[in-house]
Amino acid sequence: MLINIKSNSLTNAGQRIGLMYFRVAIILFAAQLLMGLIAATQFVYPSFLYGIFDFSVARMVHINALVVWMLYAMIGSVYYMLTDETGENVAMAGLGKLAFWVLTLAIAVVVLVYIFVQIGPAKESTIWLINEGREYIEAPRWADIGIVVVVLIFYANVFFTYLKGRKTGIMTVMVANLLALAGLYLAGMFFTDNISMDQYWWWWVIHLWVEATWEVFVGTLAAYALVKFIGAKREVVEMWLWIEVLMLFGSGILGLGHHYFWIGTPEYWWEIGALFSALEPVPLVAMFVHVLYDWAKEQGESGEKSVITNGPGMAWIVTNAFGNFLGAGIWGFFHTLPQVNIYTHGTQFTSAHGHLAFFGAYATILIGMMYMGVQGAYGVKRMKATFNSKMAIVLITFGVLGMTVALTIAGYEQVLVERAELGGGWQAFFAAQNLPWYIQAQLWRLIMGLVTFVGFIYLLLDLLTIGKKAKAAEA
Ligand code: HEM
Ligand code: HEM
Ligand SMILES: [Fe+2]
Repeated sequence: MLINIKSNSLTNAGQRIGLMYFRVAIILFAAQLLMGLIAATQFVYPSFLYGIFDFSVARMVHINALVVWMLYAMIGSVYYMLTDETGENVAMAGLGKLAFWVLTLAIAVVVLVYIFVQIGPAKESTIWLINEGREYIEAPRWADIGIVVVVLIFYANVFFTYLKGRKTGIMTVMVANLLALAGLYLAGMFFTDNISMDQYWWWWVIHLWVEATWEVFVGTLAAYALVKFIGAKREVVEMWLWIEVLMLFGSGILGLGHHYFWIGTPEYWWEIGALFSALEPVPLVAMFVHVLYDWAKEQGESGEKSVITNGPGMAWIVTNAFGNFLGAGIWGFFHTLPQVNIYTHGTQFTSAHGHLAFFGAYATILIGMMYMGVQGAYGVKRMKATFNSKMAIVLITFGVLGMTVALTIAGYEQVLVERAELGGGWQAFFAAQNLPWYIQAQLWRLIMGLVTFVGFIYLLLDLLTIGKKAKAAEA
């Protein structure tokens, strides 16, 4: 039976589960930033917390918290839009809630072990109980298996709700893409003692997530958000969406080759990786045009400025269009040809790209979805940006851009001195890190990291208060 869930009514069971995921996501986001600040301080003062909380641990928690908060915000977004798009109540709300609590408890245990146990002996037991040693997805084996079970419950919920209800283009892409996204996790779960083979499969998760399935995911969120925030026409956003899906998978799958240049895989990956990864910016331009085009079109058609129902949400979606293009498209393209990558590989340049891409392509839009969640939770028709919203978006964006520029300079210096001039050996590595440009760049990264963190405090304040303010204004 179809229930009538009006776009501006208070939330239903599925949406409330979505909000639970959003809350944990923002806490993990805070943890991510704190760990980043510790690691960045250690670049400048290497003795900071030495022997107590080493760089390797801070870095590990930083990037694992990053991946997990994003996955939480993604699951939250899906639960949030699912009932709205299908017009149905979520199929198994009770089980969905249980899965949420199991997952959250498991993550809490994993993080506590990361922080307090940190490392184990080079034995099977470490892989099972402490960490698996695979960058970004370090969770120990027991948690891996738990995650698979929880994700299966989540997927079943999405799938059965979808089957019952309205099948919009947005939701169809979402459901199909989620299957690929979840399935890819399996590629990072088995262990081989051949390091080339291990890296080969590990990249299936990392690259095929961020450059294929997560990008398609973001495409569906952007399409949905544009319908909600500016009343964009479904035919238009869905047409773009299908084009983007086609292009993203077209270039993203074989673009995987840009990680196979130097890990011991056959040399034909140089050509394949160069060609297809160089094409990857094309769909990102399409996504950029998509958002701006739809916005302009809506304004043009109504003959006046269109009503934006969620000011801060829309601001973050537009930032996403720019950020995705810059961080993934431009900063990715810079180092994607093997002729360039042989010099930039593993320098701070990689880190510059990693920061701007994860922020621009994912953090931005997921924050936008959190604003959508707040709007729904308070049931307000219109939510305008507050002082806090503006401080948040300006400081966070400026901070991340600042870190990116600083790291790009550090990377450039490494390329010139460590790689080109000194030939890339062990001594060259340290020589390059002791030059003033490198040291100053790391100091600027720390400063810009602090700016980012202040912006985050504004964001947190805003998410906690903006709904109430909008409600009061409406009354
Ligand atoms: C939103 C999408 C993207 C995200 C989140 C992202 C993120 C990252 C991250 C975190 C790394 C470092 C991995 C490591 O630890 O080794 C990386 C590496 C790399 N990325 Fe991206 N990336 C994205 C899109 C792209 C695109 C579109 C291109 C090319 C056009 C690209 C080119 C590369 C290359 C060549 C490397 C290897 C760097 C090295 O040699 O060390 N990326 N990416
Ligand atoms: C308070 C702000 C932040 C600080 C101080 C910070 C600092 C750091 C540091 C020191 C590292 C280790 C780099 C290395 O091994 O050379 C790192 C890695 C990383 N951070 Fe951040 N970070 C911050 C915010 C963020 C944000 C907002 C994102 C993305 C949304 C992010 C994504 C990453 C990624 C993907 C890596 C791994 C890069 C790679 O493998 O090359 N960080 N960060
Ligand atoms: Fe990649």
